[in-house]
Amino acid sequence: MESTGSTFPKWQLAILIGTPVLIGSLGYLYWKNNQSAIEEGSDEDKAELKKLKKGIKSISIDGDTNSNNTSDVTQQHTDSVANGILKESETKQFKKLSPLEQSIRWKESGNECFKTGKYDTAIELYDKAIEICPKTNNIDLSQFYQNRAAAYEQLKKWKNVADDCTHALELNPKYIKALHRRARAYENLKELELCLEDVTAVAILEGFQNNMSLIFADRILKDLGLKHAKEAMQNKQPVEPSKNFIVNYFKSFSQDPVHMVVVSSTEPKGFIKAINAFKNGQYADVVSACNEEIEGSEDDSDYKLEALLLRGTFYLLSGQFEKSLADFNHVINHKEADAKLRSNALTKRASLNMQTDQKDASFKDFETAIKLDPDNPDIYHHRGQVYLLVEQLEDAVNDFTKASELSPKNPITYVHKLYSEYRQAVNEQDNTKLFSKIEEFSEAVKQYSDCIEVYSLFAQILSDQQQYQLADEYFEKAMKLEPNNAGLYVHRGLLLLQWKGDINEALKLLEKAIEVDDKCEFAYETLGTVEVQRGNLERAISLFEHALKLAKSEMELTHIFSLKDAAQAQLNVTKKMGLSLASIMSSLPNFN
Ligand SMILES: *[C@@H]1O[C@H](CO)[C@@H](O)[C@H](O)[C@H]1NC(C)=O
Ligand SMILES: *[C@@H]1O[C@H](CO)[C@@H](O)[C@H](O)[C@H]1NC(C)=O
Ligand SMILES: *[C@@H]1O[C@H](CO)[C@@H](O)[C@H](O)[C@H]1NC(C)=O
Ligand SMILES: *[C@@H]1O[C@H](CO)[C@@H](O)[C@H](O)[C@H]1NC(C)=O
Repeated sequence: MESTGSTFPKWQLAILIGTPVLIGSLGYLYWKNNQSAIEEGSDEDKAELKKLKKGIKSISIDGDTNSNNTSDVTQQHTDSVANGILKESETKQFKKLSPLEQSIRWKESGNECFKTGKYDTAIELYDKAIEICPKTNNIDLSQFYQNRAAAYEQLKKWKNVADDCTHALELNPKYIKALHRRARAYENLKELELCLEDVTAVAILEGFQNNMSLIFADRILKDLGLKHAKEAMQNKQPVEPSKNFIVNYFKSFSQDPVHMVVVSSTEPKGFIKAINAFKNGQYADVVSACNEEIEGSEDDSDYKLEALLLRGTFYLLSGQFEKSLADFNHVINHKEADAKLRSNALTKRASLNMQTDQKDASFKDFETAIKLDPDNPDIYHHRGQVYLLVEQLEDAVNDFTKASELSPKNPITYVHKLYSEYRQAVNEQDNTKLFSKIEEFSEAVKQYSDCIEVYSLFAQILSDQQQYQLADEYFEKAMKLEPNNAGLYVHRGLLLLQWKGDINEALKLLEKAIEVDDKCEFAYETLGTVEVQRGNLERAISLFEHALKLAKSEMELTHIFSLKDAAQAQLNVTKKMGLSLASIMSSLPNFN
């Protein structure tokens, strides 16, 4: 957890809390026990993924006697098969065996062929095994299907793989190997929902203890989340942003035209009316007042560009990216416009570009903004945040330092500088620097006792340092300052989970977060995640659905869809298998 609702714009938050998707859901317990194991993108995981993708041969087939003490019959059998004769079933000795024994012989020969790479022949032998095996010997029979699926997999005949695994699973529903194999087949067949269901079943049956399955599930969840997000973006409705979010977003621009002093006339019109509405917190009226200015005025009216910029910002905050872009472009392309206006529009367009996953364009906008208006601290502050986000800590430190120099009295910028330096110290394992940053934070808290960002960033650092008690006190202070900041409740709830494993207290805070701000997507998403952990899958799903309505970008949607899909898959699997998730979870070590 790297941020609060107050410190970072929401879109950054989604990414910042974007721990591997699975951690938020399926693998929560796993993560709890094993925090470092599933860190995204580590070399270890990549190696594992590679192995997984290749499909390791040695684990492919079942019932392999795996010794060189093969019985005469099998030996003879295999040899003849290799010669393409297939006559052994006619030998007297073979005929004396029971049907089950015969089918096991066929399978063993099949396994031999499999091991030497003769997959077509192996399949023919498994055919025989399946044909002759009594239907009542369901475990043996399921093994034969599973083995034939393994051979089909080597030939990349994915439909056959899936069908054979299905047969195997009908006979033995908790056959992990068959579930795993069918998941791989479904992935190749692009049946991601089915794939997810199988890999979820595997993870559950393994008690969430096998990181290979979890990494596999994580990958599928991301692919599926992206697919669902793309579909949802097609007819995405505008989102009404929360008041708190709007306030904090504008607070991060010290030079935004919205902060201009308004000489109020008796009946303000257009942009002035928009500013008045803004200052009174009547956000719903802002866009229409801007429209009045933009449509009702001459091209060189006093505030047309300001109105476009403000309207574009509101479009941005409500997830209407195309409209937002059009307004920003208008301001940016107006070469005679005030440099402050254009650099503000560029900075916001940079964050828009970041949200739509165009990182290069984003950095280019920041650069253009700096050329236009080199002494504007807002540009450096926002670029610093992006650098934080992408873990370029040195660049982040440089930008926040520059912003602080340009605006020495701005506590928000100053504590971001401290925060990024702290993160750098952690990375460099430089304890001296680390402690001195914590010391500077303690000073900052005293100096800026009315700045919520100072408290909440310090609380996060303290929580990172496992100084939970102190962290909790600072969250509490921040909440006193800003009782309607839902993000703070969420973070405090998470702190309690981490600190005391106190689910009930955490739940209370999360419910409270929604109560103070029912537009807080982060609260729904987090509460949903906790409900997954408690095994309340239905409620979790409905909370995620709520969060989806509040999400703006494809990136946010992808993340939430992944959480929802994970919960849905668990619900499907537990229903299908008649398992109780709670019972599985309580049987795991370290779960209380
Ligand atoms: C899983 O994680 C553990 C560490 O928690 C690691 O030792 C192991 O190599 C990883 N891979 C597998 C396949 O278990
Ligand atoms: C199996 O064969 C290998 C060599 O091919 C030999 O070293 C080993 O002792 C044999 N094992 C048995 C159980 O016969
Ligand atoms: C080899 O198999 C035969 C019969 O299947 C068994 O009696 C014998 O003990 C086995 N020998 C070894 C070394 O496993
Ligand atoms: C869960 O089951 C429903 C209904 O059978 C199905 O439509 C959906 O795709 C499944 N979802 C997942 C993620 O398994």
